[in-house]
Parts: sequence; C-alpha cells; structure tokens
Amino acid sequence: MIFAGQNIVKQNILLKLFLKVYLVYMATYSDYNPSKHNDFMTPKCIFEEIKSFIPDTLISMPFYGDGTAGKHMTELGFDVIHQDEDFFEFDRGEVVIDNPPYGKFKKLIIEKLIERNKPFMLLMPVSTMCYKYSKILKDNLQILIPKSRPKYIYYDKRTGKTDADWKKKSAAFDSVWFCWKMNFEKDINFL
Ligand SMILES: C[S@@+](CC[C@H](N)C(=O)[O-])C[C@H]1O[C@@H](n2cnc3c(N)ncnc32)[C@H](O)[C@@H]1O
Repeated sequence: MIFAGQNIVKQNILLKLFLKVYLVYMATYSDYNPSKHNDFMTPKCIFEEIKSFIPDTLISMPFYGDGTAGKHMTELGFDVIHQDEDFFEFDRGEVVIDNPPYGKFKKLIIEKLIERNKPFMLLMPVSTMCYKYSKILKDNLQILIPKSRPKYIYYDKRTGKTDADWKKKSAAFDSVWFCWKMNFEKDINFL
C-alpha cells in the first residue's frame, strides 16, 4: 500500500533528479561562449582525418593561434602559409583550410572568402549552417563529418601554455568541415 506521503517523497526525488540533469545540461551550454572561446587549438589528429580531402596546392591557414596548426599540416606534407597576421588584410594561398575564430567572426570570414572567390575548408560548429548568413554558401557547400566530436586544446595567450589535459575534456558543441568550391565527388562525406 502506498501512502500519500510516500508519493510526495517520490515526486521530490524525481524533481531533484530532473533539476540536477537540467542544471548540468545548462552548465555545458552557458559555459560555452563562442565570442570568448576563440583560443582553442586544433590537434593534429583532426587534420590527419581530412588528409585525403586536402588538395595538393598552396594552402593558407590564416588563423594563427599558437602556430601549431601550421606545424601539423607541414608535418603531414602540405605546403602551408601560416603567419600571425590579420586575415582580413591578407589574401594568401590557393585554398584556405583552418579552424577560424567563432562568434561574430564566422559570418565576416565566410563573406570575405566568398568575396575573394577563395575555396575553403573551415572547421566550425555544425549549427553554423542554420544561420541566415550561411545561405550565401548556396549549392557550393560540401560537408565533411568527423568520426566523433572534435576536441580542441585550450591555449592561454597570456602564459603561452596549452592545456595538457585536453584529451580528457569534451567540446560543448559538434563541429563539421564546411567546404566551399572544393569540388569533392560527394557533397556529404563521413570521415
Ligand atoms: C579557434 S582558434 C584556432 C587557431 C588555429 N587555426 C588552430 O586551428 O589551431 C582561432 C584563432 O584565430 C585568431 N584570430 C582571431 N581573429 C583573427 C583575424 N582577424 N586574423 C587572424 N587570426 C585571427 C585567434 O587569435 C584564434 O587563436
């Protein structure tokens, strides 16, 4: 026999459980502020994963960060320009391949690359394709979908240190490679 008091206890436990799950979920998203979190570097394995899609041409990686992304690509055998300078001022290479800054910059970067008619592969949050400004990509958009959610490496510009524990952490969002005018055989590619 269940008494009314027991039901209330059960309801309270369920409510607390629900609140706990909700707060953990909310924390993940409220902790992620794309306009503040731009200093996350791309590990080498992410470039390795797309190696077969990278053309044999002069590649511009305009978003420098700590400079390791360019080193990774050079080690993988690509011809890369990776310099610490303002992307909006310099138009380099035959194709742009990089993990750009997010927030308000994504829109401006996409617009600038299209204005330059520069084919690109940009690793960005999957939600980018839902924003109005992404419509500019039209029929030239192709997608590379990573095997699993990419992890990034936090880099503290002030100290010059990178997070040694990055492998144990997870990004709060999924990312895919947005490719424009890359002329891959298929539009949607699972890596
Ligand atoms: C998400 S991080 C990625 C860094 C690097 N491309 C990588 O993949 O490891 C983006 C970087 O773009 C840099 N950035 C922001 N605005 C820029 C601009 N206008 N021109 C060039 N780099 C910029 C930031 O300093 C930030 O470190």
